[in-house]
Amino acid sequence: MKALRRYLNSQRPSLFAFLSLVWVFLIGVIDYMTGVQISLSIFYLMPIAFAAWFVGKRVGVSIAIASVVAWLSCELLWNIPYSNPFIPYWNAAVRLSVFIIIVFLLSKIKTFNRNLEEKIQERTAALIAEVDERKLAGEKILSYQKDLQMLMQRLSLLEEQKRKEISEELHDNIGQTLALSKIKLTSLQQSTSCPDISSELKEIRELIEQSIQFTRSLSFELSSPILHKLGFIAAIKWLCEHFKEKYGITIEFTHDDIFRQLDADKNVLLFKTIQELLINIVKHANTHMARITMTSEGNNLRIEVKDEGVGLDTSNGDYNRKGSLGLFIIKERINYLGGTFEIASEPKCGTRCTIVVPYKREMV
Ligand SMILES: Nc1ncnc2c1ncn2[C@@H]1O[C@H](COP(=O)(O)OP(=O)(O)O)[C@@H](O)[C@H]1O
Ligand SMILES: [Mg+2]
Repeated sequence: MKALRRYLNSQRPSLFAFLSLVWVFLIGVIDYMTGVQISLSIFYLMPIAFAAWFVGKRVGVSIAIASVVAWLSCELLWNIPYSNPFIPYWNAAVRLSVFIIIVFLLSKIKTFNRNLEEKIQERTAALIAEVDERKLAGEKILSYQKDLQMLMQRLSLLEEQKRKEISEELHDNIGQTLALSKIKLTSLQQSTSCPDISSELKEIRELIEQSIQFTRSLSFELSSPILHKLGFIAAIKWLCEHFKEKYGITIEFTHDDIFRQLDADKNVLLFKTIQELLINIVKHANTHMARITMTSEGNNLRIEVKDEGVGLDTSNGDYNRKGSLGLFIIKERINYLGGTFEIASEPKCGTRCTIVVPYKREMV
């Protein structure tokens, strides 16, 4: 139907005007031949409507006049005995008025239709442009999000690198110098016979010993050398002991024995993540017990950090309090590693954080 309308609209108006005129002539001939008793009025209307719709108002009116003339000619040729000779002309005038009204109505409808179509087309084009724009904006946001994720992880890795360097400097330079000073002071203390000086030297030696202890623990806190030297599992074991010592929290750590090493960057990022989750337990869970479980599932490593503490409300899916970024950063970090991070918790029922990341399995 649409195709036919498009085809008709694309034809030349003069052709339609001519066809309408031929149509009127044929109806006039048929009307004359069928006689006065059979009415063909509706058939006269057809070429008029056709011309008004496809050619225009003016041609419509001309065809209406032609129709009325054809109809009147038939009436005159039939020689109907009217009581008044003007009756056929009066009838013709009435018909003409009706036809002209129809022509005007049709052209009004046509104009309204055309305007409506134009408006729909305009609106559709605007909508398509808006959808394209939104799609583009969405793609841009996604790409920014990916860039930000990458930037965040690079910053984390850079921070760890710097911590490691400072920790090594502390251990290798300050720590060594302090240890050497302590040895020298010991021998000086042993060589002196003056009790006052000896007691002063003892005090200084004890102060140096404290500094050595402080430097050592600061060096460990800054960056665990175990992670870089002995690997992920050993570092997590150390972390558990460190938390027990420092915060009095017992962490049970179990793991599959089938994986050896993740790549270095993944090691650092996962270590930091577990550290952050344990700090959360210390800060928020109000418990002295926690559990870390690591299992391999196909090509994925699954890490579960669980506590039996106060829990948090995750029902509205929004556990990021204003200004709290820890869990948000973890989620972004795990996304960056191609994995998933989920929290399951209910108030007073403890919290279970589950990380699943892809990793290459290496048999020990
Ligand atoms: N193990 C947990 N037990 C109870 N609540 C927790 C736990 N971990 C996180 N939360 C809650 O989730 C919030 C968001 O944590 P996080 O993003 O790490 O920020 P922050 O630790 O800086 O507050 C915390 O403020 C706390 O209310
Ligand atoms: Mg936190």
